[in-house]
Amino acid sequence: MYKDLRIDRANEFEDEKVKIQGWLYNKRSRGKIIFLQIRDGSGFIQGVMMKNHVDQELFNEVKTLPQESSIEVFGTLQKDDRSSIGYEVFVDEVKIIQRAEDDYPISLKEHGTDFLMDHRHLWMRTPKQNAILRIRDEVNFLIRQYFREQGFILTEPPIITPASCEGTTDLFEIDYFGEKVYLSQTGQLYAEATAMAFNKVYTFGPTFRAEKSKTRKHMNEFWMIEPEMAFVDFEENLKVQEEFVEYVVQNLLKNKPKELEVLERDTTSLEKVKAPFPRITYTNAIKMLQENEFEIEWGDDFGAPHETFIADRFDKPVFITHFPAEMKAFYMQPDPKDPNVILGADLIAPEGYGEIIGGSERIHDKDLLLEKMEKEGLPKEVYQWYIDLRKYGSVPHSGFGLGLERTVSWICGIDHIRQSIPFARTLNRVYP
Ligand code: 4AD
Ligand code: MG
Repeated sequence: MYKDLRIDRANEFEDEKVKIQGWLYNKRSRGKIIFLQIRDGSGFIQGVMMKNHVDQELFNEVKTLPQESSIEVFGTLQKDDRSSIGYEVFVDEVKIIQRAEDDYPISLKEHGTDFLMDHRHLWMRTPKQNAILRIRDEVNFLIRQYFREQGFILTEPPIITPASCEGTTDLFEIDYFGEKVYLSQTGQLYAEATAMAFNKVYTFGPTFRAEKSKTRKHMNEFWMIEPEMAFVDFEENLKVQEEFVEYVVQNLLKNKPKELEVLERDTTSLEKVKAPFPRITYTNAIKMLQENEFEIEWGDDFGAPHETFIADRFDKPVFITHFPAEMKAFYMQPDPKDPNVILGADLIAPEGYGEIIGGSERIHDKDLLLEKMEKEGLPKEVYQWYIDLRKYGSVPHSGFGLGLERTVSWICGIDHIRQSIPFARTLNRVYP
């Protein structure tokens, strides 16, 4: 009897007869032996097929079996110290489920990224892409686990919204039975409502931005995690952020060492991601940039080179705090000591990965909120429900948004955000 084997649990099956259901990733033959690289979705393992041990017809058939054919492999699991997983299968039999067509587009040589992105549905079968998406799954899980442990309730915001939630540019418009509505840019405003019902909440959902940015950090559809907390001020908000990021990174390092190894990720910098994180005010960051020959004025937004320069001065993620109110969204609480700046911060990841979190204390005073909305030209009618939150039991509250793909890219150390999600949506890509 052959036992069902999952390759990532091979160590439980030493010297046993096993059955692997998977695909032929690669093969090479040397006279009377064929070496099969088999993948089953959980890992990769080598199968050794000897001509004198198997059916002759089968041997000849496997010899010409195309890459990515689906197969069931039966054999004995043997220890093998040369293998990266420590085991190989001595093959008794192979059952061919489907003989793949001969023209599999992703051969094992180098391809350009555009070509690979056109074949994303197949590219994700390869070891590195597979490792990235496994890490994404783990980050996903750790985020949920952290908030569950901390007593947050997951509340889903709508994806179709009647108004802009984060600035009026960058909106994807859709036709809702003749009415103009939008794909959500953020779940935050709705999270503020659910926070007043549940105290500590978070959202975890897709967000959409019609940004025409063609950088290695921007996507038009991405996933955001947005906690929102009643009775939490600016200071406490930063504490939650640093604890949360430490939790995700440190547990990821513990739980996914093999995947990080496949990616050849140098984890030295990630190991240092422990609270507290350094902070610098926007004003001091501008001064620092000016002292280092950057042409930038107070009131200007940072570009990638500025963020990277600032991040490089520290050995951990760094908070840039107290941005000019003019630059940021209408809902951010002004600093009572200097109303020109807000009680908010961006968290900048090390190694050039840029902003991974944006957050702030929110305006909880109704009149101040109305004043800000008027200044931005936001129509009161569609935001009435949001204004209600300031009429009935308003409290100081804060929250933040973490971009999942930026975080995964940083942890994996990959050079472009498009690899951090199964199917990326970027300026020039909606296929596959
Ligand atoms: O700074 P942002 O725009 O903040 C908000 O949307 C707030 N409403 C969040 C909140 O306070 N609840 O976006 C938050 C994060 C960024 O720091 C970044 O990680 C990610 O979302 N992000 C993007 N990721 C990929 N592609 C894009 N175009 C992104 N825009 C933002
Ligand atoms: Mg931001």
